[in-house]
Amino acid sequence: MKIMHVEASAKRERSNSRALARYFLERLREARVDFDVDYLDLTVDTPPHVTEAFAIATYTPAHERTAAMRATLASSDALCARLLAADALVFAMPMYNWSMPSAFKAFIDSITRTGVTYLHAEDGGIVGQLGRHKVLFITSRGADLRAGSPYESMDALTPALKAAFGFLGVAGPTFVDAQPLQFASPEARAAALERARGELATVAARWAQGARAANHATEALCQADAE
Ligand SMILES: Cc1cc2nc3c(=O)[nH]c(=O)nc-3n(C[C@H](O)[C@H](O)[C@H](O)COP(=O)(O)O)c2cc1C
Repeated sequence: MKIMHVEASAKRERSNSRALARYFLERLREARVDFDVDYLDLTVDTPPHVTEAFAIATYTPAHERTAAMRATLASSDALCARLLAADALVFAMPMYNWSMPSAFKAFIDSITRTGVTYLHAEDGGIVGQLGRHKVLFITSRGADLRAGSPYESMDALTPALKAAFGFLGVAGPTFVDAQPLQFASPEARAAALERARGELATVAARWAQGARAANHATEALCQADAE
């Protein structure tokens, strides 16, 4: 299995979302899941903002694009290729001002590409190309935005991620949201991290089970072919 692991926290060693993503991958390794990681740190390799040249090139049919248009789209093409080559996507990010870090938004702007990550069906519908991917979002938040909290209605991150990736065919992404990690007592923060680690261990066990089932199915097919 190939996992694309994408991070977006401005913090490094002190980052909770980065630590939780590492924790998740360690649980997968512990469960003996065979996987490679394609790692992308969006704070180092930040995709460019949308420019006028990009906006024009992306909606120009591929066969009509000039060399300059192709050059404009090259880094976005490369990101899309990495995404499409993966079997699973692990996105880790903090909440910044109730939504996603701007580097992650730039990433979404780069990977949402007509004719590449989504296609137009003959009936006018949109066919997202990430439908076969397992997708995990790990988010870290300073406040507690869970149901019933006074901050619940401020969560503009979860719906934005669901919409952007739903459009690309991701029907049932998994969310592990660590909260509250800042605006709370030390005990409440520790409990939030522990809760998130527990949820990540459960998701890792589920992915491991899925990977084993897929391996068995492949082995059975190979055996049937050999007979
Ligand atoms: C610039 C900035 C903006 C933030 N905005 C919010 C916010 O709107 N809501 C919230 O709950 N936490 C907010 N936080 C807190 C972070 O989401 C929280 O500390 C999180 O754990 C950071 O994740 P990290 O450790 O991976 O960087 C903000 C933090 C920073 C630095």
